[in-house]
Amino acid sequence: MAAPTPASADWWRQATVYQIYPRSFADANGDGVGDLPGITSRVDYLARLGVDAVWLSPFYPSALADGGYDVDDYRNVDPRLGTLDDFDAMVAALHAAGIRLIVDIVPNHSSNRHEWFQAALAAPKGSPERDRYVFRDGLGEDGELPPADWVSMFGGPAWTAVGDGQWYLHLFAPEQPDFNWHSEEVRADFLKTLRFWSDRGVDGFRVDVAHALAKDLPADLPSQAELEAMDKATGLHPLWDRDEVHQIYADWRRVFNEYDPPRIAVAEAWVNPPSRRARYASAEGLGQAFNFDLLEADFDADAFRGIITENLEQAALSGSSTTWVFSNHDVVRHATRYGLPPNGDEPRKYNRAWLLSHGTEPELDAERGLRRARAATLLMLALPGCAYLYQGEELGLGEVATIPDEARQDPTFFRSPGVDVGRDGCRVPLPWTVEGPSFGFGTGPAHLPQPDWFGKCSVEAESGDEASTLSLYREALGLRHELQADETLEWVDYPAKDVLHVRRSNGWEAVANFSAETLPLPEGVPLLSSGPFDAGELPGETTVWLRRE
Ligand code: GLC
Repeated sequence: MAAPTPASADWWRQATVYQIYPRSFADANGDGVGDLPGITSRVDYLARLGVDAVWLSPFYPSALADGGYDVDDYRNVDPRLGTLDDFDAMVAALHAAGIRLIVDIVPNHSSNRHEWFQAALAAPKGSPERDRYVFRDGLGEDGELPPADWVSMFGGPAWTAVGDGQWYLHLFAPEQPDFNWHSEEVRADFLKTLRFWSDRGVDGFRVDVAHALAKDLPADLPSQAELEAMDKATGLHPLWDRDEVHQIYADWRRVFNEYDPPRIAVAEAWVNPPSRRARYASAEGLGQAFNFDLLEADFDADAFRGIITENLEQAALSGSSTTWVFSNHDVVRHATRYGLPPNGDEPRKYNRAWLLSHGTEPELDAERGLRRARAATLLMLALPGCAYLYQGEELGLGEVATIPDEARQDPTFFRSPGVDVGRDGCRVPLPWTVEGPSFGFGTGPAHLPQPDWFGKCSVEAESGDEASTLSLYREALGLRHELQADETLEWVDYPAKDVLHVRRSNGWEAVANFSAETLPLPEGVPLLSSGPFDAGELPGETTVWLRRE
């Protein structure tokens, strides 16, 4: 069956989207920080890889208190990353290569350097300037105590004093004051930003912390313990996943639909149960939402089976397509996660203890981690829905656990001393060449130190090697285009419970062996495999794509 050519308005439904963390992708001017001309210079690489779209993490002016998720100006480019002209040139080059562009938008908070926040600091209590953010009087005689004992997502207090008895709310770093989404000015300004980038040719938006915008703080603030005890699934939690957040996205949808094809959006919404995701993903709202379930799962057939089944059901209910993600700029890379033993109740995506030990404890089985990552990814790429890849996973990169403390950048490291080293280990600049001061990332050293082993994982080293992870991704993405089918999935019985066997409506099958044993390979013409195999055999921790008419 020929590959269906998606109608242009539906291009996103089963796209492969490649996330670029711009400061760590490619550095064209040699200052150690990746930039937009660097991305433009690598469009050929992206086209050869076979991605349909790029999602660009924030590239806006920022003091980098949180890797660019602290935005000074929503309608400009950080001068260290380039200019608006460089942005236009990048869009033109991507589009010429048939690659769409999704940009990150950060609506929950600005940076503390944003002109509105500076104006709020200069203005008195009760002023319209302060009303764009969430200010509260402090407790105690002179407001010297925080309005509540809330803890920020990065550790430390979520309220910071401004010196006149008032405090402002920041769910993340103190440099990230939360906007007040009851303010008409805030709402109007984001619509302006959506149009600004859409007019420049952007095809869609990834919406940061989409579930936090609508807040309703009672006069008497609950304590942190009370906040945590509240059920978030009611739509009535003071901070998270409130039902009225969808009014905001209904306004955004009207803007998206002014364009042809309509602009798309994907929500970063950590909501539970998964049924709460449907409204973010609905056609009246953002249209798509990340499903992070695979990113949080162990390499386990039962877990994968449950997640796949549930998310396809959810997608059918919302009318959206589902999304699959293993890695992004916030979590330990999956090639590493799968090489570490489960560590008690600690969320797998963080592997904090291992990172704190600089990657020594528990012992990492890197080979096994990569084998499993390749198998899991090949299974995921055969599923209906949209696949989100994170830069470097196509090279099989593992997490860098050896970053010295003095080189760390992530606020979680500074705000949670001894508890969390943060997310720098997945943000280390990409290796393009085997040698060179930053393995071809730029002409000088990179802004985060790269380990020696990066050379052998470089694009140059892997390009000519048929067994490399880069070759696997290139082949898989190419075949995925050819084989793509409707969004249904059939489960095929396999006699061992550790094997998942799925079939698409056109006869494209994937068989994934989660066990360590070699088992029989079902009949069919093998198309691609995540690892070496002999005829008729399905080795342990391996996925094979088959074709059966
Ligand atoms: C999202 C981003 C993360 C950032 C946070 C605050 O979770 O993915 O990197 O730190 O929002 O903006």
